[in-house]
Amino acid sequence: MASVTSLTDSVQQQLASALTATRPEAAGADPLLRRSDRADYQANGILALAKKAKANPRELAAEVVAHITTGDELIKDVEVSGPGFLNITVADRAITANLAARLADGERLGVPPKTDAGVTVVDYAQPNVAKEMHVGHLRSAVIGDALRGMLDFTGEKTIGRHHIGDWGTQFGMLIQYLFEHPGELAPAEDVDGEQAMSNLNRVYKASRAVFDTDEEFKERARKRVVALQSGDKETLELWQQFVDESKVYFYSVFEKLDMEIRDDEIVGESAYNEGMPETARLLEEMGVAVRSEGALVVFFDEIRGKDDQPVPLIVQKADGGFGYAASDLTAIRNRVQDLHASTLLYVVDVRQSLHFRMVFETARRAGWLGDEVTAHNMAYGTVLGADGKPFKTRAGETVRLEDLLDEAVQRAAEVVREKARDLTEDEIQERAAQVGIGAVKYADLSTSPSRDYKFDLDQMVSLNGDTSVYLQYAYARIRSILRKAGEVRPAAHPELALHEAERALGLHLDAFGDTVFEAAAEYAPHKLAAYLYQLASLYTTFYDKCPVLKAETPEQVENRLFLCDLTARTLHRGMALLGIRTPERL
Ligand code: ARG
Repeated sequence: MASVTSLTDSVQQQLASALTATRPEAAGADPLLRRSDRADYQANGILALAKKAKANPRELAAEVVAHITTGDELIKDVEVSGPGFLNITVADRAITANLAARLADGERLGVPPKTDAGVTVVDYAQPNVAKEMHVGHLRSAVIGDALRGMLDFTGEKTIGRHHIGDWGTQFGMLIQYLFEHPGELAPAEDVDGEQAMSNLNRVYKASRAVFDTDEEFKERARKRVVALQSGDKETLELWQQFVDESKVYFYSVFEKLDMEIRDDEIVGESAYNEGMPETARLLEEMGVAVRSEGALVVFFDEIRGKDDQPVPLIVQKADGGFGYAASDLTAIRNRVQDLHASTLLYVVDVRQSLHFRMVFETARRAGWLGDEVTAHNMAYGTVLGADGKPFKTRAGETVRLEDLLDEAVQRAAEVVREKARDLTEDEIQERAAQVGIGAVKYADLSTSPSRDYKFDLDQMVSLNGDTSVYLQYAYARIRSILRKAGEVRPAAHPELALHEAERALGLHLDAFGDTVFEAAAEYAPHKLAAYLYQLASLYTTFYDKCPVLKAETPEQVENRLFLCDLTARTLHRGMALLGIRTPERL
C-alpha cells in the first residue's frame, strides 16, 4: 500500500514553506488554499498576513512568489493577482504522475488511513419488535450505513449498534395473547420475512381487540408486564418468540436494501436491562437525579416546556419501571467503558433530539461521558411524499417500506429495459435491483441529512440530473470503453500535455481522499455524493472534448484510457462507501 500525498497538500506545503522563508513569523500561517476557476488553485492567506505584518499585500505576495520553485515537478506557474492573491497552476506532469500513483495503489486509491483513529459506535437501523418498519427507519439505516462506510475508509474503527425497540409495557398485551393462543406465531425458522410480519400484524390486531374490549384480559396483560420485568422464564420465552419472528422480518428488509447487518450488533433496549437499576442508583447517589412524585428524574435549567415548566428526563417511573431513557443511559456506560468508544454517533430522527440532549447532558453530569468522548445525534429530517406532505398512501395510510422498495425496483426495471436491449430478463431484474435500491439510497444521501427530503420515484430513477442512475450509467459507459479498448491497456504518460478537460478531471480525482475525510468528519454523506456527481459531470465533459480510442497518438490513447480507468475506480469506490452498487453493464 503506497499512500499518495494529494496535489492540494503538496501545494499547501510548498506555500507554507515559502511563507516561512519570506517571514519567519509566518511559520504555521494558513495560506488559505482553494480550488479556483482562474487557475488551478488560489491562495488568499497573504492578505491576513500582510495586515498583521503591516506590509503591502501585493509586495508581500511578490516576495512569497520569489520563494516558490516553479517547474515540472509541481507548481508550473504562480502569479500575484488582485489585492494580493496567488494564482497557482500545477504542472501537467505532476497531475499525471500523482494519478498514476493512485491507480497503482489499488483499492485505497492512494488515500492513507488516519493515524489518530478512534472508535465510533454508530447507533443506526433500529426498528421496533412486532412492528412494521417505516420510512424513518429507512433513513436511519441508509445514512448510518453510509457514514460507517466513510468512517471505516478513513481508518476509524466503527462498531454498529442496532438499538431495536424490544422492551416495554406493550409486550404485556402481546405475550398474554400468545400465552392464551399458543401457536399463533409460526416458529421463526419456518417463515420468510413477509410471513413473519403478517403473523406479527395478525397477533397484534387480535390482541389489541381483546385488550380494548376485555377488562379482565387487560388486567392479565398488566400482570404479564410485571412477570416480564421480573424475568419470569415462561414469559421471557414467549417474548423471545416475538423478537425472533421480528428479526426474520428485519433481515428480509435489510437484504432487500442490500445492506449487511450483523447479528452481534443487534443489541436492543432489553440488552441493558440488567444495568438499569445500577444506572438509577448511581444517578441518585450522585445527586444527578432526584425523586419527584415517586419517579426518579433529572432536571435541566435550559430545557423548559409549556408554561415555562421544566421538562425532566424520567429515569425511573413511579411504579418502578425503567424506560427508554434508562436504557440509553445504560447503553452509554457500556459503549464508553466496555467498547472504549471515543465517539458515540446516533443516527436518529430529529424528533428525538430533545431526548438525546437530555440523555447526553445527564451522562456528562454523571461523568460517564468525559471530555474525551464526543456524543452526537445525527438528527435526520422527515421523509415527505412527492407533494411535499408527510409520506402517506393515497388512502392516507402509512406506506409499507417493502412496498416502497419493490416499487423503486420495478420502476428501475422499466428504465433498464428501455435502455439495454441486449440483456436477458434475469439480467434486467438483477440490474433493476441495483439501480432501484441505489436510487432510493442516493436520493436520501444526496440531501443534507438534517433536511426533510421528498421521496419522489420519478425523480429518483431519472437518467438526467443528480441521481444514482446517472452515476451508474457513467460508470458502465467507462467500463464499456475499457472493454472496447481490447488489447490496448491504460497507461500513464506524464510527459504528455493535458487538455483543459483532462486537467479538471485529474485535479478532481486527486481530491477524492480529502473529500471522503471531510464528509466523514462532518457526518455529511451529501458532500461525497456531490463530489461523485461532479466527477461524472467532469468525465462527461472530458469525453465530449477528448477522443479516447481515436486520440491522435498511441500514447494519448493509453493515457486517456488511464484517466477513464481511474475515474471508474473512483466512482466505484465512492459509491460503494455510500452503499450503492455500480453494475458493469446497464
Ligand atoms: N427504536 C427507536 C425508534 O424506532 C429508535 C432507537 C434509536 N436509538 C437509541 N439509542 N435510542 O424510534
